[in-house]
Amino acid sequence: MTDASSSPVPPVTIHRTAYRPPEWRVPEVALDFALGLEETRVTAALSVVRDADAPAPLVLRGDALTAEAVRVDGEAWNGWRMDGPDLVVDLGDRTAAVVEVDTRIDPAANSQLMGLYASNSMLCTQCEAEGFRRITFHPDRPDVLSRYRVRMEGDKAAFPILLSNGNCVATGEGEGGTHWALWEDPWPKPSYLFALVAGDLVVNRDHFTTLSGRRVELGIWVRAGDQDRTHHAMASLKHSMAWDEQVYGREYDLDLFNIVAVSDFNMGAMENKGLNVFNTRYILADPDTATDADYDGVEGVVAHEYFHNWSGNRVTCRDWFQLSLKEGFTVYRDQSFSAAMGSAAVKRIEDVRVLRAAQFPEDAGPLAHPIRPDSYQEISNFYTATVYNKGAEIIRMMATMVGPERFRRGTDLYFDRHDGEAATCEDFVRAIEDGAGIDLTQFRLWYSQAGTPRIAARLEGDAASGEWVLHLAQTIPPTPGQPDKAPMLIPLRIKAFDRDGAAQDTAEQLVLLDHADATVPLGRFAGRPMLSINRGFSAPVIVDCARAPGELAWLAAHDDDPFARYEALQQLMLDTLVAAVSGEAAERGAVVDAVRETLAGAAADPAFVAEAVLLPSEAFIGDQMVTVDPDAIRRERLALQAAIGEALESEWRAILADPAPPATDLSPAAKGRRRLRGVALAYLGATARDDAPALAFAIFSDADGMTERQAALATLAHGDSDERAHALDIFYQRYRDNPLVLDKWFQVQAWSLRPDTVDAVRDLARHPDFTLANPNRVRALYGAFTANQAAFHRPDGAGYRLLADLVIALDPKNPQTAARLIPPLGRWKRFDEARAALMKAELGRILAQPGLSRDATEQASKSLV
Ligand code: ARG
Ligand code: ZN
Repeated sequence: MTDASSSPVPPVTIHRTAYRPPEWRVPEVALDFALGLEETRVTAALSVVRDADAPAPLVLRGDALTAEAVRVDGEAWNGWRMDGPDLVVDLGDRTAAVVEVDTRIDPAANSQLMGLYASNSMLCTQCEAEGFRRITFHPDRPDVLSRYRVRMEGDKAAFPILLSNGNCVATGEGEGGTHWALWEDPWPKPSYLFALVAGDLVVNRDHFTTLSGRRVELGIWVRAGDQDRTHHAMASLKHSMAWDEQVYGREYDLDLFNIVAVSDFNMGAMENKGLNVFNTRYILADPDTATDADYDGVEGVVAHEYFHNWSGNRVTCRDWFQLSLKEGFTVYRDQSFSAAMGSAAVKRIEDVRVLRAAQFPEDAGPLAHPIRPDSYQEISNFYTATVYNKGAEIIRMMATMVGPERFRRGTDLYFDRHDGEAATCEDFVRAIEDGAGIDLTQFRLWYSQAGTPRIAARLEGDAASGEWVLHLAQTIPPTPGQPDKAPMLIPLRIKAFDRDGAAQDTAEQLVLLDHADATVPLGRFAGRPMLSINRGFSAPVIVDCARAPGELAWLAAHDDDPFARYEALQQLMLDTLVAAVSGEAAERGAVVDAVRETLAGAAADPAFVAEAVLLPSEAFIGDQMVTVDPDAIRRERLALQAAIGEALESEWRAILADPAPPATDLSPAAKGRRRLRGVALAYLGATARDDAPALAFAIFSDADGMTERQAALATLAHGDSDERAHALDIFYQRYRDNPLVLDKWFQVQAWSLRPDTVDAVRDLARHPDFTLANPNRVRALYGAFTANQAAFHRPDGAGYRLLADLVIALDPKNPQTAARLIPPLGRWKRFDEARAALMKAELGRILAQPGLSRDATEQASKSLV
């Protein structure tokens, strides 16, 4: 169904420097809901207090709302008008008033999933960033904080459970089979943290005792039948609460913490005060239906949303340009938590892989923006890998420069100073400066300059003295609106090894590169030292450094920093692949030897080894080239995969011969072994060995859990064996009623390296189980497809057409999710002329759609520049 209620408005650009404090504060909000799926009546009573010195009209933002009645201090009021979607109330020279407005909304017709909407006959809300204005008229800006009192009434059978923020203070029966509940949140909050849920839900209850001995009730609410899949989320929540107390000294501040899982959700989850709303995929997990990676996803997102209670809710954002204040910091916090729960080295590798896959391309393309953007048309378009993941790297660099104790002093000062306030990124930086005792003047450029810095690193030795130095030079590429950049402060962890000496001999140094160029003394070495640079990925930069295959192989085997070991092997693979793609004779021996050597350590740390021996993705290989050649990349990567598969066949078979740990064993060791088995199967699957499909099928059939089952299915999906069709059919029949698992069925087919994947995706989009109404399903098919470089970039443009058709069909229903799928079309500058022309034509076709949303208009028009 089309949500025709929001009419298109010409794009207006909002600028960060245009910020003005609100003219009216709203200390209290009382909301009254008469709930219904198709009609919900809302009465909002806002207690407003004027802050401006002179009389000023009260501007209440609305989106597709009609004011049915307006009252001021209890009396009917005519002094109001509509200004486009907004309600402007003339309060004369009053300095305070209670303004009441009645509105009526249709949650069932709300396909945007912003505001109050229906999902599986449950009512729920999503208000960040600007969804509250789709429920009632309100200033709806994060620097207006109010105490909320929420009364809701609805049919008892349809909505047995009634939840909102804070504590339930009263309940009662109404007339005609209705009941009601009254909720109060003692903490003032911005409107984007409001939440309401009403529906037929069951709960997994538990409790947590805080550091000061207070008991907090915990509840995870799901649909009947799903309770058994909430235990991992509950354990993750309790671990998060304990960790935040211990590492940041932050105690939970309400008596109750509720989480609700909903199937239809635009993003991962939402940190509403005391009532987090989650995408089911980040709550529900059991070994039969969720992979180990899914378990990690649940743990990380539960932690992320919980951590927002301090970094986001107690201290919120002044305006949406400050989004990274809460998101970058909170991602850094959830990354650190997950690192502490499992293997820190593997977590770091995964985080860097995400950064390189999602953020580096964004920073190198037409949608590049600083982590604190200067302007936007639609804020939903700025929930990006830059604001989140690069934002986290900026926080991490500060922590690296000052060390954990001083960083903690900085964050303590930040929370103390700004508790209860709507703060800015600048406030955060100043708190770290004052609390940790560091001057971050130059470092602030990370907030304002977009683009991934490149560092050229070159070793130079003096034959007579044996002294070696490292020359460093930084450049920051131009990005839209930022042609020239100033040198940034880049913290680089560096170590040089004596090839023949002990690996631990020299000390690591933290180099603070703060000029365009620098020369760093390394010390005396008998020969050219082995250079380990940007260890632990201490800065989100690209390092260009000529190192011979032998040097990289040595580092992959001997570096004492696990991330650097991983990086060295990746670089070796990347150099080999880029050379092959450029037509140089393929020299695969060094890679095969390095993989063999790395595999020898598999027993000690299988998870790390599994990560380290994975080939770089096709997209990441493409990112190394001036003009991406998707077909050559596909060919050479498959050839290298097959070569490694064949050369190390007995190693892969040995890994697979060792039985998988039981799926119920979720220890890091068991997860690591399963991960390595998946990699082994993929390498064998890439060979021409006749028994490979049967082997994969046997693993698929015998699997006692989803990790093994999905890995085997994904390997089979690349080929054209009978086992492939058979396995896909079995999987479909078994899980057709489980939406989250059915998503995987769509996803593995869209990931397939088969040449006919575009056609398969087109067919899958017509499958009866495909629907535009569910963002998870859309992303499972199209998100996986656009990540499949050679398929999406099929030379005839069929992939681009398919994506543009989807965007055009989805935009009227769900502009936010539609707009998020546009960026892959914006990478046209990196491709040959023929492909670039086809990509631009599809962007143009999207832009030509009448009534295109503000979301899609911004993404597509900026992508064409
Ligand atoms: N604050 C949420 C999170 O990161 C993201 C919500 C954004 N939602 C949206 N519709 N823009 O945890
Ligand atoms: Zn967040």
